[in-house]
Amino acid sequence: MDDGWLRRALATKRDGGMLDAQTWRRIVAGYVGGAIDDAPVAALAMACTIRGMHDDEILALTDAMVASGDVLAFDNAAVVVDKHSSGGVGDTVSLVVVPLVAACGVPVAKLSGRALGHTGGTLDKLEAIPGLRTALSPAAFRAQIERIGCAIAAQSERLVPADKLLYALRDRTGSVPSVGLIAASIVSKKIAGGAGAIVFDVKVGGGAFMRTEREAIELATTMVRLAERSGRRASAIVTDMDEPLAANVGTGLEAIEARDYLRGGAPADSRFGRLTGIVAQEMLRVGGVPEAEIVPRLTAALRGGAGYERFVALVEAQGGSRGALEALAPAAPASAVSAAADGYVRAIDAVAIGEAARDLVAAHGPLAGIRIAAPVGTYVRAGQPLAEIAGATGVERVAEAFTLGSVRPAERSLVVALIRDATFAPSSNPPNR
Ligand code: URA
Repeated sequence: MDDGWLRRALATKRDGGMLDAQTWRRIVAGYVGGAIDDAPVAALAMACTIRGMHDDEILALTDAMVASGDVLAFDNAAVVVDKHSSGGVGDTVSLVVVPLVAACGVPVAKLSGRALGHTGGTLDKLEAIPGLRTALSPAAFRAQIERIGCAIAAQSERLVPADKLLYALRDRTGSVPSVGLIAASIVSKKIAGGAGAIVFDVKVGGGAFMRTEREAIELATTMVRLAERSGRRASAIVTDMDEPLAANVGTGLEAIEARDYLRGGAPADSRFGRLTGIVAQEMLRVGGVPEAEIVPRLTAALRGGAGYERFVALVEAQGGSRGALEALAPAAPASAVSAAADGYVRAIDAVAIGEAARDLVAAHGPLAGIRIAAPVGTYVRAGQPLAEIAGATGVERVAEAFTLGSVRPAERSLVVALIRDATFAPSSNPPNR
């Protein structure tokens, strides 16, 4: 094969130049089809990581990746919304907002992932509900959204096969942390999943993959621009992930937290409650709901129980039952993690809590995990509970995740940045590709 064009493309990227859309298409098609092997693609990914990518290149790569597999299209008259979180600890926002937003009249097609490292995965949390399936065929996924307005499913092998190959190669060759490659990877999957509008929740802090605000804002802004240039409405929220978001950490415990929140059992002013409200409002906004109707619709769906009923409908449609959902309870025995001295909770190591919860679930099943009793900023007396462990092992490890001190910690903002672009056209359906 004459691969002179490929050598020239690599040299261009190595020297900080730009590749045109046709070259990106040729590379992606060649790699997926087997005509191009790993070596040049790994070199290209590394050159992108070091040199960066122009917006036009990210768009061209995204288009080429979408074209590598199937693309879902929905018959719904309304714009179908998806939501993406870059991964955190105790982040069970998706299980709440998907049915809640659907109950407000905006369909939600949520393609989710599994746990990665210390962060939890939405699919694992849902599968803690006995009988529930997340492996839906594209046809079943589409039919469920058209019938009940929402579904949460695993990414089908047939959507964006290029991403699977490319992500695995980047993982092996040190080129995961490229804003352009991450944005193309995430946005291509959302587009192929049929989303007409997308809300990105980009986490930043010690428990997130993005450690600095600058990186998180750059990724969030790039994804919003990319989605908009792809004809989708989009906004991004950059949010703090320095401590676990919700009180419960662990697959089944997080499903219980979502269930109870939708049933009105959790305080709306907690960090989890506030972020859930903010994400749901953004989803309704990009879904085309008029500004004045957003909060009233959400309040009615939450208080009137329509959000919870939609969650039950989703669980039943995916093989679970109301009875199984309502019977979920934390694993016994429980043991308390207590404060060794008086003081303020100054920090909770989200990575340590995420890893401890993952190990508890592996050892004792999906209903094991950690419930944080004293979030950051709480004043505790010696002997008072900091956390409770369902499954009972790992008390010392969880205790070590807490830092206590005599000085009250400064309050961290939950929302670091909100990136919206008001230029999208109201209520137009995006092209299906
Ligand atoms: N998540 C993705 O889906 N892709 C990336 O490249 C990084 C995180």
